[in-house]
Amino acid sequence: MARVKSGIPGLDELLEGGFLESSSVLISGGAGTGKTILSTEFVYKGAKEYDEPGIYITMEEGATNIWWNMKNFKWDVTSLEQENMLKIYKVGMINPQDFAQDFEKEINKIKNMVDDMGAKRIVIDSTTAFGMWMGNTSKIRPSLFRLSEELKDIDTTSLLTAEAPEGKNQFSRFGVEEFVTDGVIALYFKPPQRAMFIRKMRGTDHDKKPHPFEITSSGVQVDPKQEVLWESLE
Ligand SMILES: Nc1ncnc2c1ncn2[C@@H]1O[C@H](COP(=O)(O)OP(=O)(O)OP(=O)(O)O)[C@@H](O)[C@H]1O
Ligand SMILES: [Mg+2]
Repeated sequence: MARVKSGIPGLDELLEGGFLESSSVLISGGAGTGKTILSTEFVYKGAKEYDEPGIYITMEEGATNIWWNMKNFKWDVTSLEQENMLKIYKVGMINPQDFAQDFEKEINKIKNMVDDMGAKRIVIDSTTAFGMWMGNTSKIRPSLFRLSEELKDIDTTSLLTAEAPEGKNQFSRFGVEEFVTDGVIALYFKPPQRAMFIRKMRGTDHDKKPHPFEITSSGVQVDPKQEVLWESLE
């Protein structure tokens, strides 16, 4: 099976070379653990280094904020945007009453954008916001499942972010998000220590330990050789 390189230094080594093509991976973590930075880097590196156009779909932060963030890392995003290799799309506020209808509309819009650009990578940041809009928690699992299947059908590899409560055994707010995706990567921050742990990755003999990572001016950097003890994250 072909592997899609994450582009995050140190991460692909923990994943037998990268993500499986067309798979969906949940990036889980508490506030400020690096979910947004890691997932923007995935689409940026895809466009810049692997010639794979990408779309970053934001549900919370405005597009301007995300562009600003990316430029802050001295990533050369403007030319990629002009070449239609990189797009940031902000989903409008969905009214829980019109959820079903608005959901279909948004899925169609995303599919059209993917077609237009020939996008191979997609980020949805965050599924927590998405779940809150639904108003009804029983719909979250089937809707997220549907979303990840749609992304697979259009041959895109996707990262979905999820807010997770503190502690090492919970990966999402609603407790269903991690079951819907093919993989789960958990991010932790116990200042000053940041750590990354691959909780699951279907079809992959992935690494099984938490590893330290840093956020630097060039983005996320994982150290695949070093290990972080669980005790130090508690
Ligand atoms: N240029 C930088 N250099 C080093 N660290 C940085 C830099 N920019 C941001 N950070 C760190 O990254 C954190 C924000 O990361 P990010 O926005 O990806 O978190 P998040 O998990 O998406 O948070 P949220 O749950 O609020 O959306 C900041 O709080 C800061 O600690
Ligand atoms: Mg974020």
